[in-house]
Amino acid sequence: MTACGDHIRDLIGSSGPISVERYMEIALGHPTLGYYMTRDPFGASGDFITAPEVSQIFGELLGLWCVDYWARMGAPGRVQLVELGPGRGTLMRDALRAARVVPAFLAAVEVALVETSPTLRAAQKTALAGVAPPVAWFGGVEDIPGGPMIALANEFFDALPARQYVKTTEGWRERVIGLDGRGELGFGAAPRVHESIEESIEANAPDGAILERNLVAERVMFTLAKRVAKRGGAVLAIDYGHVKSGVGDTLQAMRRHEFVDALAEPGEADLTTHVDFEALARAAARAGASTRGPVTQGLFLNRLGAGERARKLAAGADAAAARRIMSELTRLTAGGRLDKVGMGGLFKALAVTQDGGPEPIGFSENLASP
Ligand SMILES: C[S@@+](CC[C@H](N)C(=O)[O-])C[C@H]1O[C@@H](n2cnc3c(N)ncnc32)[C@H](O)[C@@H]1O
Repeated sequence: MTACGDHIRDLIGSSGPISVERYMEIALGHPTLGYYMTRDPFGASGDFITAPEVSQIFGELLGLWCVDYWARMGAPGRVQLVELGPGRGTLMRDALRAARVVPAFLAAVEVALVETSPTLRAAQKTALAGVAPPVAWFGGVEDIPGGPMIALANEFFDALPARQYVKTTEGWRERVIGLDGRGELGFGAAPRVHESIEESIEANAPDGAILERNLVAERVMFTLAKRVAKRGGAVLAIDYGHVKSGVGDTLQAMRRHEFVDALAEPGEADLTTHVDFEALARAAARAGASTRGPVTQGLFLNRLGAGERARKLAAGADAAAARRIMSELTRLTAGGRLDKVGMGGLFKALAVTQDGGPEPIGFSENLASP
C-alpha cells in the first residue's frame, strides 16, 4: 500500500468509512501525499498524456478560439484569460504563441491560472516565462479577478472528486470506502437511503447499479457561468464524458498508461470519473448562462481548422516529422461523431456564454445523443 493509502486506512480505522468523493479528494489533493501535489504526471515517462501534450495544434487552436471570441465580444480593453488545471502550462503557452497574430488581444489579457498543485504551478511558471501578458495563479475560481473572462478547461472537470450512489433493494445509498476483513480498502454502502434519487429518472435501475454526481464540478461550473452571465465572456470545457446523465461506474485509476484498481494505489495513480456534460450544462443554465454543445473534440477541432494547420506544419517539416504531425492530428481528432473510441470521439467540447452573447465558433451542430 502507498503512504497515501496508509493515511486513508488510518482515517477509516479511527472514524469509519469515507465517501468516494472524500477518497478522491485525499488521493488527488492531500497537501503532501496527494497525486497532483507531488508530481508531474504527464507524457511517455508519466502516467497519461493529454491533448496539449500530444500536439501544439490543440493549444494553438484553442488560443485562436479565445481571440475570435474576444473579437466577437467587441474587443474589450481588459479581459481575464483563465485556464483551470493548466498541467504543465503547455496549452496556455501554445495558445499565447498563436494569439500573437492579434497584438491587441495580448495587450488586453491578464492570464489567470487556477491550480492547486505547487509542483505543477512551478512547471507552468517555467513554461510561461517571458510571455507578453501578466500571469497570476489562484487556488479557486472564486478568486479570479473581476471583469469579462474567457476560460479554458481541458481535462480539469474529470479530476474533481465525484460522489457515487449504489442501488440496493432498499433504494439508493451512497457508495463508501471502508476496510475489509484483511484491513484492505473495499467498497460498501452507507446506511442512509437517498429518497430524492429514487424519485428521479433513475428509479428503474437494477440493484447494484452505480450513479455518479459530481457536485464539486457543478459548483465550479455554476460559479464560472454566473460570472460570464453577469460580466460577459465564455467558458470552453473539453473532457472525456457523456452527453446525457445516466447510471454507470466511471471511476478509473491510471498509472504508467495502464488502468489499475481504483483502490490499490491512492496517491500514486491518477483517479478520475467521466464528465457528465448534461449536469454541467444544467449547472450553467441555473446560473443564467447559455450553453452550446457538447460536440465531439474531433468535430470541434476540425471545424477550427486542425487539418489545415497540420498540413501547413507538415509542409515545412522533413518526412519523418510530417508523418508524426499527421499521426498526432489523427490521435486528437479520430473517432467519428458517435464513435466512443479515440480522443476525437470520446472527448467532447461544451461552451458556456452570456445569454444573448456572441456565438462561439465550432458549435454550429450539436450531438443529439451519446
Ligand atoms: C489531468 S490534468 C490536466 C492538465 C492540462 N489541462 C492538460 O490538458 O494537460 C488536471 C489538472 O487540474 C489540476 N487540478 C486538479 N484538481 C484541481 C482543483 N481542485 N483545483 C485546481 N486545479 C486542480 C491538476 O493539478 C492538473 O493541473
